[in-house]
Formats: sequence, structure tokens, C-alpha cells
Amino acid sequence: MEAPKPIGIEIAYKKGANKKTTNPDLEKQIQAILADSKALPKDYSFAVTDPNVERVTLCDELLERAPRSNLKIYSYTLHDGEGEQETIEQGGDEVQIANHWLLPAREFHGLWDSLIYEDSLKENLLVLLHGPPGTGKTSLCQALAQKLAIRMNKSIYMHFHLFEINSHSLFSKWFSESGKLVQKVFGQINELCQDPTSMVCVLVDEVESIAFAREAISNNEPSDSIRVVNAVLTQLDRIRRFPNVMVLATSNLTGSIDLAFLDRADIVQYVGPPTKEAIYEIYRSAIANLQQVGIVTDREELPSRAELATATSKGTATSMLETLAEQSVGLSGRSLRKVPFLAHALHVQQDVTTMVKFLTAMRSAVRRMQADKAMLGAKSDQVEVAAAAAATSDLSGSNGSSAAADERSVSM
Ligand SMILES: Nc1ncnc2c1ncn2[C@@H]1O[C@H](COP(=O)(O)OP(=O)(O)OP(=O)(O)O)[C@@H](O)[C@H]1O
Ligand SMILES: [Mg+2]
Repeated sequence: MEAPKPIGIEIAYKKGANKKTTNPDLEKQIQAILADSKALPKDYSFAVTDPNVERVTLCDELLERAPRSNLKIYSYTLHDGEGEQETIEQGGDEVQIANHWLLPAREFHGLWDSLIYEDSLKENLLVLLHGPPGTGKTSLCQALAQKLAIRMNKSIYMHFHLFEINSHSLFSKWFSESGKLVQKVFGQINELCQDPTSMVCVLVDEVESIAFAREAISNNEPSDSIRVVNAVLTQLDRIRRFPNVMVLATSNLTGSIDLAFLDRADIVQYVGPPTKEAIYEIYRSAIANLQQVGIVTDREELPSRAELATATSKGTATSMLETLAEQSVGLSGRSLRKVPFLAHALHVQQDVTTMVKFLTAMRSAVRRMQADKAMLGAKSDQVEVAAAAAATSDLSGSNGSSAAADERSVSM
């Protein structure tokens, strides 16, 4: 008979705890908790009495009838401290070209669980994430690297690094030196990759600033920019030959990324603003936090989307939250995370409040945010129209032929 599919369990140990000499009761304790639970959602976390353990997390959804005997345990300890800044000296100045973390890092603890998407986005191996600002692209890359560090077989890799390249700093004032900076930063990555016991995740954040489309570079642009794109592509090809490296890149301007770079990506994944179902869960988790700290006084938790699907009736607060989630569609994950803060700061007069009052305050915060967004959108449209008009009048006022003007306006 086939062995039952193991239940994945992540155990976060406290610093200094020896994972090899673990409390023999721990596995029994976990099994007892699982046996006592009917069904548990994916990423469910619970505490155990072992003083060495910070948190135990379930990797997959636990179904009611699933056998509880076979556990697959992933043990890890979080590295404290912030990412280290990697600097390079250039022209007598220090350029901060990258941040470097040893994973799993406390800074990213819980990040994976906090990111909510409607589909199986988090289950893909992703390489280039693109989409509008604030949709969680950078966070998802960091969370993915952290997950990898926790779940990968420790017998293959002893150390996990996250090397986040500050694409912007490779440019700035030493534009003509950018090609050299690219080589230097990739040189450091190369060094890390030489160690076969280390797994290296390279995050090229806002990749468009280095890998912009060569065809979009007009004739008057310095040829240095082309050299930089070439340097990035060559270096990427070089580091990708290592079996222990994964390159993650983010961009909110996919249209201007070099085609040769796009071709190199195994997976190009669009990350958009959350759907109303994901928004419901984002708000629900924020409200649960406020209930925990006593700002929202109601004790009863709002039901999850899964619980709602089977519920026969729903309370006023649940219906209000559903409507609010629907009204919030179009806001980015970053804006949604701000809604509870704005609601509390601007629309709640007391320190503590009831759920219904808080949801009403959240609705006001969302309206305000949408009004701001519409106003800024209208303003930027006006700026674009004005800039286009200025460009056209410049061209018609100059000696340039109207054919040249047409060409410019088409390529804009
Ligand atoms: N789907 C989501 N679920 C939960 N939180 C989210 C989601 N999307 C974004 N966030 C939150 O929004 C904040 C901003 O995310 P992040 O900086 O990763 O976005 P980004 O797409 O990289 O933005 P930018 O394009 O401006 O760099 C983070 O705190 C993140 O946790
Ligand atoms: Mg980002």
C-alpha cells in the first residue's frame, strides 16, 4: 500500500537552540494538535510548549480525512539583524549597490503568509514579476527566497543568501562608469556562487533601470547605456551557469525591458492589484490584528472566504466587509494595507472602537484614497497632455520637418 502523503511542517527554532537534539515530545505534541483538529488551512501557525521553538506552521491545507501520522519537518532558525549594505568605491565615493541577507531572515518572517493573491501565483517558480506599483512584487521575491531557504534540503545547501541589487544606484552620477559597476556587483555574486554549499537568490529590483530596451535608446543617448545593457546580459548568462543560483527580477515597466532580457526569463508573471476576494482577506487579517491589540473591541472573528462559502447566514460586519472589499477593487496591495491606518488616524475619534464603526471609518478612508488617486491621475493626465502639446509646438517651431514631428509623436 502506498504511504500517506506526508504533512509538511515548518518549525522555527529560537536562536541558539540545537535543532539536532530536539525535544522528542515535540513531534508527538504536533501530531496531537493535528489529531485534535478537524481541518486546518494552509499556513496555519500554532504554538507548542517547547521553549526552543518560536512557531510551528503547516505547509499545506490539512483535510479532515487526511492521515496525520507521516510528518515532513522543515526546521530552521531565523537570522537576526538587518540586511547588510554592499558598497563599492567609485570615484572616491561609496556607492551602495546592493543589500545582502542571510536567509531565513527575521525581517522576512511571516512575509509569505501576509501576501494574499487570488490564484496559484505563489506556487510558481517566478523569475520576472511585472505589474503596477505596490502590488507586492518586491515582497513576493523576498518571501519566495525566504520560503526556499526554509524548505530546501539542508543536506545540499548550508547557507542561503539573498542579494538584492539596487538597480538605480548602478546609474546616478557615474553614468559612464555604470558598465564597470555592473561587472563589480556581479563579481561579488560570482564569488558567493563559487561556494557549492550556498544557495544564492539574486533579486534585481526595478530591472528596467538597467535592462531598458536597446531599441528605445535613441541615437543621441550615450552609447554607455547600450554597454550597460550588454554588461547585464553577459553577467546574467555567466551567473546562471551556476546550479545554486536563482535570479528574480521585478519591474513596473515591462514595455521598456530589453527583449533579450525578457527572452532569458523562464517565467514572466504579471502581478496585478488584488481581486475583491483577496482584498476581503487582506482587510480581515488587518482587522484581526486590531482585535488582538484591543483597538477593535468585538471579540468575534470575521469569517474567512472559505468559511463564508459554507455559511448559512452572515452578520452585519461580514456584509459590510464584503461591500467594502468590492468598493476597494483597483487599489494596490500597498494602498489597501494603509486603509486601516488611515481609518484609525482620520476617521475614528476614540482609541478603541466597535467593528461596525471601524468598518464605516475604513469606507471613508477608501473613498478618500480613491478621490486622491483620481485627482492625481487627472493631474498626471494633464501633465502628459501639456508635455505632448509642448513637444509638438517645439517641433513645429523648430526647423524640424513635419514628417520628423509625426515620427516623434508616433514613437512617444
Ligand atoms: N496581494 C497582497 N497581499 C498583501 N499585501 C500586499 C499585497 N500586495 C502588496 N502588498 C503589500 O504592499 C506593500 C508594498 O509591496 P512591494 O513594495 O513589494 O510592492 P512592489 O510591487 O514591489 O511596488 P513597486 O512597484 O512600487 O516597487 C508591502 O507591504 C506588501 O506586503
Ligand atoms: Mg518593488
